[in-house]
This record gives sequence, C-alpha cells and structure tokens, in this order.
Amino acid sequence: MKVSQRSHVPAFAVMEVLAAANARRAAGESVLNLCAGEPSSGAAEPVRERAVEILRSGDLGYTEALGAPGLREAIAGHYRRWHDVDVSPGRVAVTTGSSGGFLLAFIAAFDVGDRVVLARPGYPAYRNILTALGCDVVELDCGPATRYQPTVDQLDALQAQAPVAGLVVASPANPTGTMIEAAELEALSRWCAAHGVRLVSDEIYHGITYGGPAVATAATHLDDGAIVVNSFSKYWAMTGWRLGWLVLPDDLVGAVDALASNVALCPPALAQHAAIAAFTEEAYDAAAANVATYATSRALLLERAGDLGWDPIAPADGAFYLYGDVSRFLSAGPGDGRPADSVAYCERLLADTGVALTPGTDFDGVRGGSWVRLSFAAAPATVAEAVDRVVAWQRGLADGS
Ligand SMILES: Cc1ncc(COP(=O)(O)O)c(C=O)c1O
Repeated sequence: MKVSQRSHVPAFAVMEVLAAANARRAAGESVLNLCAGEPSSGAAEPVRERAVEILRSGDLGYTEALGAPGLREAIAGHYRRWHDVDVSPGRVAVTTGSSGGFLLAFIAAFDVGDRVVLARPGYPAYRNILTALGCDVVELDCGPATRYQPTVDQLDALQAQAPVAGLVVASPANPTGTMIEAAELEALSRWCAAHGVRLVSDEIYHGITYGGPAVATAATHLDDGAIVVNSFSKYWAMTGWRLGWLVLPDDLVGAVDALASNVALCPPALAQHAAIAAFTEEAYDAAAANVATYATSRALLLERAGDLGWDPIAPADGAFYLYGDVSRFLSAGPGDGRPADSVAYCERLLADTGVALTPGTDFDGVRGGSWVRLSFAAAPATVAEAVDRVVAWQRGLADGS
C-alpha cells in the first residue's frame, strides 16, 4: 500500500517542543511554556454560560453548512461595529477554526499547479495545505526592510516570470507579529484586483494590536475578489472550540457551501451557538482585558530586549509573539559547545531551564535555523521569569560554560 505523495508535509516542530515540555512537567519539573500560540484565559464568561445552557437544552443538531444564521448575522455585526462596513451575512462562512476555512478557501480558489505566493517567514499551514493540494507555492523572502511582509515590487517581479494565481497575507503575522501598513495593504489589494490574483487575508490576530488597529481588507473596498479569514481562537481566546470564519467574495459562496457540506457538514454546533455570545459587551471587554495583559508582557519583553540580545527582533506590532535572531548564541564552529541551530537551542534551553520556545524552522525553511519565537500570551509574571532564565542561560553559553 502506498502513502500519497501529497501527504508528505512537515509536522510542526512546536508540537515536539510541547511534548517534551509536557513530559518535563509530568515529571514534576518547572516548565514555562512560551511555545504555544494560544491565550491561556479561556473563553469569556457569557460564551461559557451560553454553552452550558445549550448543552442542557440538548438541541445540538447539524446547522446549515455555512453556519448557523444567527452567528453569520453576529459576525456581520462585528464588521459594522469595528470597521463601519456592511458585510452581507450571506458572504460569511463559519468554519472549523480558520484552519478549516483555509482548506475550503484554497480548494475553492485554486487549482492544481496554480502559483500561490506567501511571505517567508510565515505561518506554515498555508504552505503545507497548499502543497498538499498540488499548488505551486512560491515563498517570498521578506526581511526587516519590509517588516517581513511582501511588497508590490516583489509581486511584479514574480508576475513577470509566470502568472500568479494567489497571494496569502497575514497582518498581524505569525511568527513576526508585524502588520502591513494601510497604504501597503491598499497597494497589495489594488495589485491583486488589477492582475486577477486572489488575495487571501488572514486577519486572525485582528484586535490584538499595540499601536493602531489593523486595517480590515473588507473595509478597503478595493478588491471584490479577496477572501478574508478570521477565527475565534486568538482575540476571543477560544482555540479548542474550533471555530473560525471566512468573508467570501460572491463568486466563491456557492463553491464553499458545496465543499463545506461535503467536508464537514457543518462546524461544531455547540461552539457556533455559544459563539454568538462572543459579540456581547461583556465578551468584548474580556477580550480587551486579555489584550491589555499581552501589552504588559510585550512592554516587559521590549524593555529586556537588550538583555535578551536577540538581534534583530521583528517589530511586534500585534499578535503575541517575539521573533528574534539568536545567531550570537549559536555555534560558530566545532568545539565551542554552543547549540548548532535554533532547534538545538530550544531543546537545550528547555532541558536546562524549563523554558519552552519554538524554533524558527517551523516558519522559515531558509533562515529559521537561527531564529526563535517566544509567545507572550502567558501571564506577565511567567514571561518575566522566563526572560530571567533565558538571559542567565545565554550568559552561560557566551561564557562557554
Ligand atoms: C496566522 C495564523 N493563522 C491561522 C491559525 C489557525 O488558527 P485556528 O485554526 O485555531 O483558527 C493560526 C494558529 O496559530 C495562526 O497563527
């Protein structure tokens, strides 16, 4: 029997770090988990209360494939509230996490062999899902000069070689936390619209920003063909509820409806009905309080950036990640006793100090071997303690001990 070629996608290295961290914790040792990209607060009270009521009612049959009408309305209301834009609930597709949304969107929008462009570093599932679907994934090398985000100039150069079918962007992004400025997002949207390129905008970290708010693609009105992806996982701290959504262009609604009804029948009904309560004042307040806590941890990290000595670090405009280059703590040659790359750095850091970080290799197959990602979604006291441990450990490396 064979295993399909298309299923040969890399697993997340972060899951190995997580497993090692859990084993260490089970053995009674202290672990500071800064590798998982998820809030620890859990869903807001109104969502949990609503879930209990629904469970008691027992009314949990399938919903419509594109989601319960009440939730699609509530999501449309969220765009009115935050962006003063009218999104028809008919264009909203509720999905099984944004991950399920990506799968549906990519199948609906792209054919085998289509060239789809992504930023590197970037969230690995885009690349891996597209690869499994037979798309030709083109990674753009994005560095500090462009806040690790793609530019129109890069797209022009690619298009001159061969036609591009799609562009996936994330703002704020994972792992860098950087945002695409309003003017640049407008330029990218115009470029995609002008060249018939399907723009897929991952807006999962919207709401978790530390300067101005992120620009919503739906509010720019520049690209009628764009697909917006979002989720309850991050801002609403509902990772395990497995609920996300797409805002679809009119031409993809029918295709996604048909695909969704075949792939999953519907997203989890309990999560859907309860998530309507995520759009209440109390739940928005709880989410804002979480963001304020991340902001405290971020400020603390930026204050200690000099001590950490990661250089450069990506500007953490949003999300809850600090992505930094740890080259100066890696081996410069045989015999210096330092870790060979970021994977070895993370393994040794965990074994020596109990601090779990994610190696950059998950996000960047070219330079990720010298970068690490720290998730500051943990409590500020945990982040502070972790920085102390990392700094002391790195000092030991620098001393060659
Ligand atoms: C940028 C980005 N997009 C999408 C996802 C998928 O999240 P979910 O499927 O929980 O909505 C993640 C998860 O970490 C992410 O970081």
